[in-house]
Amino acid sequence: MVIDPLLILDNHYQDLNNDGEDIIQGLSKTPKSLPPKYFYDDRGSQLFEQICQLPEYYPTRTEAAILSQYAGEIAQIIGNCELVELGSGSSTKTRLLLDAYQKIADDWRYLPIDISGGILKTSVLELQAKYPEFFIQGLLGTYEQALAHLAANSLRSRMIFFLGSSLGNFTPQEAEKFLSQIALALKPGDYFLLGIDLQKPKDILEAAYNDSQGVTAAFNLNMLSHLNWRFQGNFDLNLFKHQAIYNVVDTQIEMYLHCQESHSVTLDTLNLNVGFAAGESILTEISRKFDLANMQQQLKVQGMKTLKTWTDPQQWFGLILCQRY
Ligand code: AVI
Repeated sequence: MVIDPLLILDNHYQDLNNDGEDIIQGLSKTPKSLPPKYFYDDRGSQLFEQICQLPEYYPTRTEAAILSQYAGEIAQIIGNCELVELGSGSSTKTRLLLDAYQKIADDWRYLPIDISGGILKTSVLELQAKYPEFFIQGLLGTYEQALAHLAANSLRSRMIFFLGSSLGNFTPQEAEKFLSQIALALKPGDYFLLGIDLQKPKDILEAAYNDSQGVTAAFNLNMLSHLNWRFQGNFDLNLFKHQAIYNVVDTQIEMYLHCQESHSVTLDTLNLNVGFAAGESILTEISRKFDLANMQQQLKVQGMKTLKTWTDPQQWFGLILCQRY
């Protein structure tokens, strides 16, 4: 069967009406911030893939090790389901799940969702070639667009999965809203598989976000290049420095772009001119580190009961499989 690799979700609506509004808001307040979704143009997605291979960045390989050990068990529990992945990127870890799933199910669908069209299309074409007997189609859009689309299309039994601890990039309020949107896209009996990075010593965490090869720094600075091409801006990347610290009180990594000298920046398409003082920082990302028991409680509040959890021997990363009731 020939399947269009991508389904584009209401992107025009997003582009025409509110693209960049969040940038204006973030750069107009004190302290300044920018939404992490602007990391992911095609170059940013490639840099993120490189981060995942770094020796200091333990989350990807730790989660992959858990998945490779337990994917078969997960597939046995969920049975024949439509698999929906939020923020799939190159779907590398997903292959572990798809391989296990291929052994137990004969009619599955896999719908990866991402906002970065280039990487999504490439990975869908690769997966369609690898698993030709199954329906695989990428949904191109934001999580909100995808969850709204899915909520209206829930005939089959379904498992949504959200790996890589991307939930950690949301504030507690955003995460609560997001989990409630996921619950709405699931029917009673459907499943949700969540991968979360767990709390651990500060030195391990800070090393993971300040890698020795400078890939995380390039990833952080690339957000400014993205804004430059997308909104006709003139950010000078040499005037900002990457900084990542672990905030022990809020149990989160905070990533900043630290301004080196006072200057102003214009984003033509947004009609925006912003002044930066020397020493001022833009918060570009938080990456929250979780407690496994606490997260199960939060999921329960949203109507999702934990069936099973898995971690690695050091308890650095956790997977939670829950069911909508
Ligand atoms: C995508 N997300 C889960 C990554 C994280 O660890 O919070 C993004 C990242 N930022 C810097 N390195 C990785």
